[in-house]
Amino acid sequence: MTESVTITDNRTGESVEIPIENGGIHSNAFAKHMPGLWFYDPGFTATASAASSITDLDGANGILRYRGYPIEQLAEQSSFLEVCYLLLFGELPNHEQMDNWVHDVTYHTFIHENMRKRFMEGFHHDAHPMGMLMSAIAALSTFYPEAKEIFDPEIRYKQINRLISKGPTLAAMAYRASIGMPFVYPDNNLNYAENFLSMMWRVAEPNYEPNPVLAKALDVLLILHADHEQNCSTTTMRVVGSSHADPFSAAASATGALYGPRHGGANEQVIHMLEDIGSYDNIEPFVESVKLGEQRLMGFGHRVYKAYDPRARIVKEQADRVFEVTGKSPLLDIALKLEEIALEDDYFKSRNLYPNVDFYTGLIYQAMEFPLDMFTVLFTIGRMPGWLAHWQEMLQQEQRISRPRQLYVGPDARDYVPMASR
Ligand code: CMC
Repeated sequence: MTESVTITDNRTGESVEIPIENGGIHSNAFAKHMPGLWFYDPGFTATASAASSITDLDGANGILRYRGYPIEQLAEQSSFLEVCYLLLFGELPNHEQMDNWVHDVTYHTFIHENMRKRFMEGFHHDAHPMGMLMSAIAALSTFYPEAKEIFDPEIRYKQINRLISKGPTLAAMAYRASIGMPFVYPDNNLNYAENFLSMMWRVAEPNYEPNPVLAKALDVLLILHADHEQNCSTTTMRVVGSSHADPFSAAASATGALYGPRHGGANEQVIHMLEDIGSYDNIEPFVESVKLGEQRLMGFGHRVYKAYDPRARIVKEQADRVFEVTGKSPLLDIALKLEEIALEDDYFKSRNLYPNVDFYTGLIYQAMEFPLDMFTVLFTIGRMPGWLAHWQEMLQQEQRISRPRQLYVGPDARDYVPMASR
């Protein structure tokens, strides 16, 4: 069997045979032989925009692996910072590498006082923390102008480190500012997840002691969100990065992409949906209205997964552990019933719509008392290493600037009509 595809232009009879490599065909071979003919693929449903060795996602079989390691094993045995290292540098760290990495992250969590005093205080009192975080990430580029030196590996490492270490500080700062509470400085004695919980919730305790089950659950959720190959925000990171913008500007753009309800904002929408449903009796009418196309079942469906999202399974296990500490969410029963009904319904079955990672994460965050508008912020902290790993990989691949084509469907050339004659 020949591993190739042949495309024939029936207008001219010209054919081009393109080899299949790594499951894809290179557009260069096509473009060279058939110039001016474009693939029309809005939403990139059939286009691979990158060759990547970071995350392997087999949506048909519900498989997710970071650098070859199954997500289930990483969630069970690893930690978020170790996963960051794995994604960014390709291998699991040895003792010394891990100690250095944890040290570097732990000792770069502080931010310039001007960020807190002048920048954060400038927002309106009810600003959404995601908007604040996105702006704060962008603003970091003005504090670290050397970040523009994107081809210097040492400088690049510093900015990667800064984005991972300062993300939780900025996130917690945005939250505290939004509720009028004083900022809590990072505590170097705590691990990554614990420190974030401390910056979120600490009031006047001399030593904040986070609940270990909740800190572990947060760490696992961060692992599950750490990368997901060419999703909307990661693609944004690569697209913006391809213009050689600094990583803070690119990460701020990716944060904007994540903000939307179809992407990172879905976990917040799930809670709104469950609250709107409110009781068992309303589940069936809700499902009917989804089937009529009047609304979407949030937390269901995925561009790539056509099977149960493996992350959703792990989230469900974590939810049980968290609810043992916090008490069960009243919305959990509605969510479980809704899932059961949807999984048996032909509408969802025929479209391969299964729960995605966001179906149960919101319930955990809510049980941990995170306000709804912080959910996507948590997703941002988790996805940061994935964005940065892809950004770095793209630079090392020396990718050309992202610049797709379009099919022009507007009017033909016409003469300007003066206002008086229109
Ligand atoms: N509820 C009801 N119908 C749906 C849903 C849903 N959640 N998702 C897809 N469909 C239907 C859709 O109406 C379409 O039906 P038809 O063929 O009759 O027109 C079919 O399934 C295919 O949908 P699509 O919109 O072409 O699928 P997509 O790949 O463009 O969209 C998605 C993927 C995630 C945006 C979509 O499934 C969705 O809006 N889900 C709800 C939002 C959500 O949970 N997002 C979180 C995604 S996971 C976290 C992340 O990675 O960001």
